[in-house]
Amino acid sequence: MSPEVYKLIHLAGIFMVFMSIGGLALHALNGGTKESNGARRLVSITYGVGLLLILLGGFGWLGAAGVMAAGMPGWTWAKLGIWLAVGALLALPTVKPELSRIAWIAAPILGILGAWLARTKPF
Ligand code: HEM
Repeated sequence: MSPEVYKLIHLAGIFMVFMSIGGLALHALNGGTKESNGARRLVSITYGVGLLLILLGGFGWLGAAGVMAAGMPGWTWAKLGIWLAVGALLALPTVKPELSRIAWIAAPILGILGAWLARTKPF
């Protein structure tokens, strides 16, 4: 597959995960709980598949573009850190609903940081 296809897979995963963070955070901000979330299964599948697609698309791009031959570049380690942080944000509204506003605000900041790292590859 071409790097372009992998990038689309990467972006599809990002859309799914960020949509889920928004949905879970808004639900918690409105006083919703895990039990009262009628779309729990749908959301879990969406962010689970999304997280996988982000990795598949990211590493697929690196492989297809021939970047991995020289080892993982530094900026991709930073992106893995962002991926982990985004995973933590997904859990935040359920585990600590009072911190849902932080998830709401931090998500786009992490998204922009991820895009900036990919565009500029600063290290
Ligand atoms: C949730 C975490 C992540 C976010 C928000 C994110 C965001 C993005 C965005 C928006 C782009 C498109 C940039 C563009 O071409 O305009 C991109 C590209 C890319 N990302 Fe991620 N990313 C994340 C995680 C990762 C991970 C874990 C990897 C692992 C290797 C990765 C590797 C890449 C690669 C290789 C590209 C293509 C770079 C290029 O076109 O030159 N990303 N990312």
